[in-house]
Amino acid sequence: MHEASLRVLTERKRDGGELNEADWKSVVESSLRPDADLAPVAALFMACYFRGMTTEETLALTRAMVDSGETLRFSRIQNGVDKHSTGGVGDTTTLLAVPLLAACGEYVPKLSGRALAHTGGTLDKLESIPGFRSTLEPSEFERIVAKVGCAIAAQSSKLVPADKVLYALRDRTGTVPAPGLIAASIVSKKVAGGASRIVYDVKAGAGGFARSVDDARTLALSLLTLTAAFGRQAGVVVSDMSQPLSPAVGTGMEVMLARDLLAGRSAAPRLMRVVRAVVLEGLGGRHSPEDAARAYDRALASGEGLERLRAMVEAQGGEGGALSRLQPVAASRRVAASRDGFVRAIDPVLIGRTARHVVNEAGPFAGVRLLKIVGAEVESGEPVAVVYGGDDVSERAVAAAYEIGAEPSADAPAVYEELALSIESTK
Ligand code: URA
Repeated sequence: MHEASLRVLTERKRDGGELNEADWKSVVESSLRPDADLAPVAALFMACYFRGMTTEETLALTRAMVDSGETLRFSRIQNGVDKHSTGGVGDTTTLLAVPLLAACGEYVPKLSGRALAHTGGTLDKLESIPGFRSTLEPSEFERIVAKVGCAIAAQSSKLVPADKVLYALRDRTGTVPAPGLIAASIVSKKVAGGASRIVYDVKAGAGGFARSVDDARTLALSLLTLTAAFGRQAGVVVSDMSQPLSPAVGTGMEVMLARDLLAGRSAAPRLMRVVRAVVLEGLGGRHSPEDAARAYDRALASGEGLERLRAMVEAQGGEGGALSRLQPVAASRRVAASRDGFVRAIDPVLIGRTARHVVNEAGPFAGVRLLKIVGAEVESGEPVAVVYGGDDVSERAVAAAYEIGAEPSADAPAVYEELALSIESTK
């Protein structure tokens, strides 16, 4: 499609019209040409942001994006479960839910991404482990999942190449937050990843994409409907991101926390509430809720989840015993409470940015450890957090992220909603 026709589509959307399946296919195909002029596509996306997209339009765009590349098809594993988080701060969920799902008997071929803005990325976290490889050929990916139960790999550039081009364009043009574009971007990658059941963890709050629970719910419903339209089962957890989810924020810091939680040596109730919801949604396709809850409790208490994490790390090149030896950098600074009172809020964006900064400066075993979370009573001068590997600027940033007041604030629940949907394919 040449420039003039793309302009016609853009004008139609600008004026409140709809684009059909063939139109979206042309938009995606035109964007992938080596000499593509992306200006009309940027304008079209801005029109989508202001005008919205119908379910049919979002589905058509998702299909065109899936068709822009390969789709993984497994021969040795059946009924694979994948999960996807819309991204947040201290979101250690994948490092726990993936091995726990494997310990419950599921195959988990998990495709992950890297850090974006203030949010963390699972691949960056795992690559803090010496030797760990996240780039796997599809055959090796499947072999590890068949043997260990789970693998976590980078999305190959052969899957949904359109997303790379279109996401970069959205990032440059202020059009990332259009709900239809977000849903198409996420679902196209998960569908191309080949899993039969996909669990989405949609974050609501200042540290995530959807600021309000209502926006998160709208996105959640769109993810469910789109995924089911591809004949895959889908589950959704809407969880809180108004404060960091995990008490450890960083790359290696989060790997160490996951290891210690799976070993029963640490506690992080908010994080584990989300992990539980995600695992139960992942098991939902093949288990009753009671059986799923029993399987989860057993996988955690028996140490089988930790064994699966270790086996996966070793199968992906991590040095034997590397997981046990990880520890934070020695240099640390305590962040003191500015007054007596209650922790009323912890700014997730400020904590996320500070953790990324100290990791960049002092390596993967630097980061932020939150000793007090929202609701905790504190005394002036008492440590509320520790910054590993930081300087006085990062110490001040963490202090500024803490809002301490005389009265406790109402704490948000860790999980707002759990939904599942499985309808016949319309493909
Ligand atoms: N995550 C994605 O993969 N795509 C988006 O558009 C937003 C979040």
